[in-house]
Amino acid sequence: MVLGTRKGTSSCFCLSLTNLITVTMFSCAAIANSRHQAQTAAFGSLLAKVPTKSSRTSPRRLLAPCAFTQAPSCRPPRLLVSPVSTSTTLYVSSSTAAPSTSTATTVPARLKVRDILINGDDSLIGQRVTVKGWTRTIRSQKTFSFIEINDGSSLGGLQVVADAEKVCDYEAVLSKIHTGAALGVVGVIKASPGKGQKYEVAAESVEVVGGCDPEAYPLQKKRHTLEFLRGIAHLRPRTNTLAAVARVRSALAFATHNFFQEQGFYYLQSPIITASDCEGAGEMFRVTTLPDKVSELPRVEGEEDRIDYSHDFFGAPAYLTVSGQLSGEAYACAMGDVYTFGPTFRAENSQTTRHLAEFNMIEPEMAFADLQDNMRNAEAYVKAIVRHVLKECEEDLAFFEKFYDKTLMARLNTLVSESFARVEYTEAVRLLQEEIAKDRGAWQFPDVDFGTDLQTEHERWLCEKKFQRATFVYNYPREIKAFYMRDNEDGKTVAAMDLLVPGVGELIGGSQREERLGRLEAKLEEFGLDKEDYWWYLDLRRFGSVPHSGYGLGFERLVCYVTGVENIREAIAFPRTPGSATF
Ligand code: 4AD
Ligand code: MG
Repeated sequence: MVLGTRKGTSSCFCLSLTNLITVTMFSCAAIANSRHQAQTAAFGSLLAKVPTKSSRTSPRRLLAPCAFTQAPSCRPPRLLVSPVSTSTTLYVSSSTAAPSTSTATTVPARLKVRDILINGDDSLIGQRVTVKGWTRTIRSQKTFSFIEINDGSSLGGLQVVADAEKVCDYEAVLSKIHTGAALGVVGVIKASPGKGQKYEVAAESVEVVGGCDPEAYPLQKKRHTLEFLRGIAHLRPRTNTLAAVARVRSALAFATHNFFQEQGFYYLQSPIITASDCEGAGEMFRVTTLPDKVSELPRVEGEEDRIDYSHDFFGAPAYLTVSGQLSGEAYACAMGDVYTFGPTFRAENSQTTRHLAEFNMIEPEMAFADLQDNMRNAEAYVKAIVRHVLKECEEDLAFFEKFYDKTLMARLNTLVSESFARVEYTEAVRLLQEEIAKDRGAWQFPDVDFGTDLQTEHERWLCEKKFQRATFVYNYPREIKAFYMRDNEDGKTVAAMDLLVPGVGELIGGSQREERLGRLEAKLEEFGLDKEDYWWYLDLRRFGSVPHSGYGLGFERLVCYVTGVENIREAIAFPRTPGSATF
C-alpha cells in the first residue's frame, strides 16, 4: 500500500512477522523522520492503544508510545497492523532478536476523528497522526485542497488540508478523490483557522484506499429523504442521521448491559427458535425445513389437507420467538434476576411507524418481585440509559434536536429528573372519557370503556397531554392481556403495566406473572391454549413457585424516543416489515 509517493523515492515497504500481517506505509517525510528515530530508538514493550469510543483516555497519552527515547543497542520499532483495520496499533520489540538492518520507520498511530474533534485537546497540536475514513466533501484548488473525511466515529468530519507542495503526487491523488472515496491520511494536527472545527490535519500523504465513482454513487452532498435512504440501506449508515442513530443505539445497548449487570442481573440468551407462543396471539413466523414442493409435503394420515410436522426438522411445529419471557421466567426462578436482550419476531401485518416484524427486546425477569417492584425497576432502567446517552452522545443529540425534534433535550431532561406518573387503567379510562366528551369529533376512536384496548391516540394523550411525562398505566382488564399475567383479587383485572412515553406511546409492556398453578391452568384453558404445550412452564409453578415479575422494552421504540426519529424503520440497521426483507 502506498500512502503517497514522491517520484524517485523508494516509498513502500512490507515486513512480514510470524502470525501477524505486518504492513508499513511510508511517506517520504515518514522515512526521513523514522530513519532518525531508528538510530535513537529504544523500546521495551511498547503498546499504543488508540481509544475506542467508550474510552475517555486523553489522546496525548495514547500517542505517547510513539516517542522513542535513546538506546542505541535496540532494534528499530516494527509497526504491526492487524489484518483488518482496527483502532489498535501495536509497537513491539524484542531485545533477544537479532539486530535488524532494515530501514526503520514509524507510521503514526491511527486516531479516530472523534479522538481529535471531540475527545482531543490542544496537546494534539503538532502531533503526526494517521486518520482513515470516507470523503464527505472535497474542494480542490491548484495549490491546495480541503477534504472532509468522516470515519463514523463522530457526526462532524475532519478537515484535511492537502498542500500541493507537501503531498506526494498531489494532482494524481487528488484526481481520484470524490465524495465516498475511502482515504488514509498521514499528517500533522493543527489548530484550524476555519469556522466550525477546532483542529484540522495538514496532510503529508494521502492514500486513496478505495475509489468511488461519482457518477454511480447514490449519496450526494444534498439532503436525501429518509424514504430514499431506506432503498439503499447498505449505504445509509454513511449519512449523518443513520450514523448518529447507530451511535446512540450502541450507547443505549452498552448502558443496558451496564445497568443490569450493576444491579446483579445475569444476561440470558434465550432461544430464537421456539415451540411456544409466549403472547398467545398467534403472530409467529414458522421455521421449517419441509420441502418447497406442495406435492412432497408430508400429510397427517386421514387428514390430507394438514401437514405432518412430525417429519419436520424439530419433529413438531417450530417458530421464531415473539418474546424471551418464558425462558426468562425459568432462569429467574433459579437465579433471581436475569435479563435477555435479543431479536424477537412478530408476524403482525402492521405497516405503522411503530411496528417491525423483527425487533429487539430487553426483557428483565425478577424473582420475589411484584408489580410495584417491576415498575420501580423499569423506571430506574429507562432513566439510567437516557442519562448515559445525555452524557455520552451530546453531539448526536444536538443534531437530532436541530433536525428532528426541537423539544428533544427538554423531553429527555424531564424524563431523567421527574418521577414517572402512575395511573390505574380504570382511572385512565375515566380521564379519557371525560376528555373525549369535550369534543368527540377530535378522536378517531371516541368509544373508550373498561375493556377497551387503548389505541395510540389514547396512550399519547395520557402521557403527552394529561401527565406530560412518562406514564405507567397498570391493572388492565384481564380479557385484553396475556394468559400469564397474575389475576388481581377484584376478579376483573391483572397485575399488568405498560409504560407510555411522549412521542411514541407504549415503550414497555410487563406484568407480575401468575405463579399459582391452579389459576394458571385455568387461565390456559380459558384462553384456549393447550396445557400440554406449556408443561414445562407449569412445572415452574409446581416446584418452588415464587411471585415474580418482568417486562419487555422495545429497543427500537426506545431509539425513536431518544433520537426523535419518527419512523421505527430508521431506528434499526436493516428493517424487516411486511413485504420487505431486502439487505
Ligand atoms: O407488550 P409486549 O408484547 O410484551 C411482551 O412481549 C412481554 N412478553 C414482555 C415481558 O413481559 N417480558 O412487547 C413488549 C414491547 C412493547 O411495549 C413494544 O415496545 C415492543 O415490545 N414491541 C414492538 N416493537 C416494535 N415492533 C413490534 N412489532 C413490537 N411489538 C412489541
Ligand atoms: Mg404490549
